[in-house]
Amino acid sequence: MQENLKALEAEARGDIEKAATLEEVEEQRVRYLGRKGKLTLILRGMKDLSPVERPGVGKLANEIRARVEGLIRQRMSVLNESQKEERLEKERIDVTMPGVRPRVGNKHPLTLVLAEIKRVFMGLGFSVVEGPEIESDYYNFEALNLPPDHPARDMQDSFYITEEILLRTHTSPVQARTMERTAPNVPVRIICPGKVYRRDADSTHSPMFHQVEGLVVDKNITLANLKGVLTLFVRELFGADRKVRFRPSYFPFTEPSAEVDISCVICGGKGCRVCSHTGWLEILGSGLVHPRVLAMSGYDPKEVSGFAFGMGVERIAMLKYGIDDIRLFFENDLRFLEQFGTV
Ligand code: FA5
Ligand code: MG
Repeated sequence: MQENLKALEAEARGDIEKAATLEEVEEQRVRYLGRKGKLTLILRGMKDLSPVERPGVGKLANEIRARVEGLIRQRMSVLNESQKEERLEKERIDVTMPGVRPRVGNKHPLTLVLAEIKRVFMGLGFSVVEGPEIESDYYNFEALNLPPDHPARDMQDSFYITEEILLRTHTSPVQARTMERTAPNVPVRIICPGKVYRRDADSTHSPMFHQVEGLVVDKNITLANLKGVLTLFVRELFGADRKVRFRPSYFPFTEPSAEVDISCVICGGKGCRVCSHTGWLEILGSGLVHPRVLAMSGYDPKEVSGFAFGMGVERIAMLKYGIDDIRLFFENDLRFLEQFGTV
């Protein structure tokens, strides 16, 4: 019996030392010390021994159990230690590694250009006025000297909502709305930025685009004032070297009228798809406010005169950044949008 016990102890010692994980040690504990464990069964069998044998065997069995328990505890603590190191190794943080940069948005190129346009005109004493995008036929056309059957209405293909209501085709109705408020005595010096809508779509025309209207009404305003302000504007935005031309044109609400072109930045003036092979890109329409428009708004055309202009913000942004397709502004492709400053 005592021999058996000693053999069992040796066996347990070997098994416990071989256990490579905490789970395996637990298996060995159950195998030797569990309810049906080998040592447990021997201890339970003690009652069948003779009274002479019992004390010696009992003592030995208890000693062996204590030693096996000790071996198990020891093995567990060794494994615990080494697994802790493994875990810590896995959780190790290299504080010298570069971090993950949070993604920072940047301003849309149209927002940037609009801010520049505002900066130039506000520096000249203009203030910013806005008007509705859903407009009445009266302000979009009639008050601008475009009666219902006027052929020039076809110059801008419109989105009508009802017979009288449409999406404004330009920012010029804000002129009429403003003059109505300020006439007959208060001078005007405003710009009006905003969205406009036309049935137009190709690489330089978008069905929704942005314009900035400008209007000055005061005593003794002449074409010289218009040319001076717009030339200064182009120089501020594009630098002193950019070529500018004032090309005679027609708008029902201005007389005389001129469109302003700047030399194409895409092809340098040689002619390309963007400038329709002319070397020039139109950025705005302008002119002296038609006397009839002044009169309709309540000013006396013998007392005051004015100039007005309406520029396309996308066109200016295309020229400034060398963009050859207007649709890029509205596709929200990050590869495009991320190329512009963060400011
Ligand atoms: C006008 O809209 C006039 N209201 C401008 C004006 C104001 C003239 C005050 C005189 C006095 P026009 O249709 O040419 O004019 O448009 C003005 C500018 O808007 C153009 O020079 C061009 O830069 C831009 N533009 C016109 N149509 C589109 C379009 N579909 N997509 C993008 N830009 C456009
Ligand atoms: Mg035009």
